[in-house]
Amino acid sequence: ASTLGAAAAQSGRYFGTAIAASRLGDSTYTSISAREFNMVTAENEMKPDATQPNRGQFSFSAGDQIYNWANQRGIKVRGHTLAWHSQQPGWMQSLNGSNLRQAMIDHINGVMAHYKGKLAAWDVVNEAFNEDGSRRSSNLQGTGNDWIEVAFRTARAADPSTKLCYNDYNIENWSYGKTQGVYRMIQDFKSRGVPIDCVGLQTHFTGGSSLPGNFQTTLSSFAALGVDVALTEVDVTNASTSQYAGLTQACMNVARCIGITVWGVRDSDSWRSSESPLLFNSGGGAKSAYTSVLNALNAA
Ligand code: G3I
Repeated sequence: ASTLGAAAAQSGRYFGTAIAASRLGDSTYTSISAREFNMVTAENEMKPDATQPNRGQFSFSAGDQIYNWANQRGIKVRGHTLAWHSQQPGWMQSLNGSNLRQAMIDHINGVMAHYKGKLAAWDVVNEAFNEDGSRRSSNLQGTGNDWIEVAFRTARAADPSTKLCYNDYNIENWSYGKTQGVYRMIQDFKSRGVPIDCVGLQTHFTGGSSLPGNFQTTLSSFAALGVDVALTEVDVTNASTSQYAGLTQACMNVARCIGITVWGVRDSDSWRSSESPLLFNSGGGAKSAYTSVLNALNAA
């Protein structure tokens, strides 16, 4: 196949990108996106600060712009994200205790009701662990260690039709403390019946020509717990072709690795644009990393 989405679809997978609503008027951006991808994630527009700017007052206009753009083109959408220490609206940042716990539940219910039945998956909880595998301290963590499972139980009840994911960065190296911490939480959730369907590995890679240690082992180990895995925010410093090929190959080698999403279209669209980490250059041309990914998808 000659596009990323079609090549991934040959093995039942998807290939996605982050989309920014502010760029939907840029025809180079939209033509690449519509051609190459069959999944999108809103880069910022479905986060808590965007969707509930004032308590009890929800705002879905920017998120809906992205959803509608994708849906009209037959492109699926991942929701990102419902509960996170960052990008909380100001009113939420100043809450704690049972008041914050209730606000989290209300937020999940409000946002998921709006998108009920429409999204392929939700990143229910994002980035809740420290590098050593302990829980990250935040106002949410301060409401009690069970906040993550409460978020997942609330999400399942709010929309039983969508897949519920835990999403984090630096959980790609199997020998890393954070990976092990997240792994133990997923193992615990599965053993106790806490509803969780997938783990998103953000896959923000930096430097070098090889992948973080035993990346494929990490994918297959999570999958063996009974969850899907996905690479959710891929970018690689200088778009190393060997790292891009390797991460794609690792996903293809694991049956429950259901798809790959890059965190932006062109280098100029990236949150780390000075590192040229994406598959298209700022002019919209496909880079050599694009070819290495496409070949790995087609070989699967
Ligand atoms: O839209 C405002 C604009 O009105 C204002 O003038 C400007 C001035 O700062 O800011 C604009 O908002 C920025 C927004 O991106 C849109 O460009 C925010 O400041 C900026 O903080 C925000 O950054 C986003 C970042 O998450 C925030 O945490 C990035 O775009 C986004 O790529 C990044 O994505 C995260 C994932 O959600 C989670 N994993 C890590 C990943 C990379 O940091």
